[in-house]
Amino acid sequence: MNGPVPVEVLKQHLIDPEICIRCNTCEETCPIDAITHDENNYVVRADTCNGCMACISPCPTGAIDNWRDVLRAEAYPVDEQLTWDELPVQDDTLAGQGSIGEATEGAAGGGSTGGAESAEPVIGGSDLVRGSVVPPWSAAKPYVNLYNHKAPVQATVVGNYRVTDASTESDIHHIVLDFGKQPFPVLEGQSIGIIAPGTTADGRAHHARQYSIASPRDGERPGYNNLALTVKRVTKDHHGQAVGGVCSNYLCDLKKGDVVNVMGPFGSTFLMPNHADSHLLMICTGTGAAPMRAMTEYRRRRRMKGATGKLMLFFGARTQGELPYFGPLLNLPKDFIDTNLAFSRTPGQPKRYVQDAMRERAADVAALLRHDHTYIYVCGLKGMEDGVLQVLQTIAGEAGLDWPSLWQRMKTEGRLHLETY
Ligand code: A2P
Repeated sequence: MNGPVPVEVLKQHLIDPEICIRCNTCEETCPIDAITHDENNYVVRADTCNGCMACISPCPTGAIDNWRDVLRAEAYPVDEQLTWDELPVQDDTLAGQGSIGEATEGAAGGGSTGGAESAEPVIGGSDLVRGSVVPPWSAAKPYVNLYNHKAPVQATVVGNYRVTDASTESDIHHIVLDFGKQPFPVLEGQSIGIIAPGTTADGRAHHARQYSIASPRDGERPGYNNLALTVKRVTKDHHGQAVGGVCSNYLCDLKKGDVVNVMGPFGSTFLMPNHADSHLLMICTGTGAAPMRAMTEYRRRRRMKGATGKLMLFFGARTQGELPYFGPLLNLPKDFIDTNLAFSRTPGQPKRYVQDAMRERAADVAALLRHDHTYIYVCGLKGMEDGVLQVLQTIAGEAGLDWPSLWQRMKTEGRLHLETY
């Protein structure tokens, strides 16, 4: 008997170009390379995405969590998505009928293929995601996305000064933005988006650039509605070619009293535990120091009598002069923070990375790894991530700890946070 040909409705995964801050987290996270981008948009390949949801939680803005029910044969192709300025409206006749695409060839398992209706984090995350996609259990509840590019908040620059030695190439600035009476609640580990004025060569508004907040929740200046950023002036691309980073140059050149358009706040997982007895193992390079500064300063201001939580920091830079906040960092009391610096280009000295410093302190790192209240934060250069995970594995192994199961447990418990770029 002939019947109607079944028409397959796909719940197509899309990224909202209006909210997306082009931070590349989704593309980094996707275990099956279903996400790609050009200079305009980040987009999802309908024929590759299997709805594993690994990308949902790590996205700082929620732009990733968008779905449209479409006829599978008419799924929006990548070329079309790359031209979008906003998402298409849902066709009412198909709404609610879609199901997520099947895993395609080469699609590895891991993660849930459960419904795409909600952005609830996959608890513990996909096995293919290396860090936690949930916050520490005792983290405060963050506010996110209070302001977007259509309705940004205006902040006033109240400070802007260089925090690297003037003789070095690394021009890193400490920039303080004040929000006055406008609400802008933040937590350590969160980030904000800055919209540089002007347009791109083809006349589009600049996309927001994301910067980690370098100050604690109660303000760079305690009790004030302000926050600090740590911004490196970009003068070269990844291949060493001269480029002028649009937003970093804009920010580093700001004067006191200038007004900046801000989006955010963003981020709901890379947060610090409120529990005062928890230990923080912080590993960073360059401007990756921003969230570590925020967490350290929060702990410093709230040093609680009797609290047993330790702070251990591994911080890498080319030279002492290129390490942001070198002076203030060394002024922190040794019984408050265990600081370990690694310089890679000190003349006459062997190259030293954060991993090398961690290996030298293996016994103390292992002691922290043994502890159920230890939280690890890694922020900075992408290349460091592999090296740090490898050295953690070595240190754990030498201490008789089963790293694969410890790693999995730390991820699931919101105790291993990676933010590299
Ligand atoms: P290098 O001298 O090899 O570039 P940057 O100044 O570019 O932000 O880098 C900060 C520090 O991170 C530098 O000391 C840099 O060393 C170091 N670094 C580069 N690659 C890695 C890596 N794979 N692991 C750890 N540190 C790294």
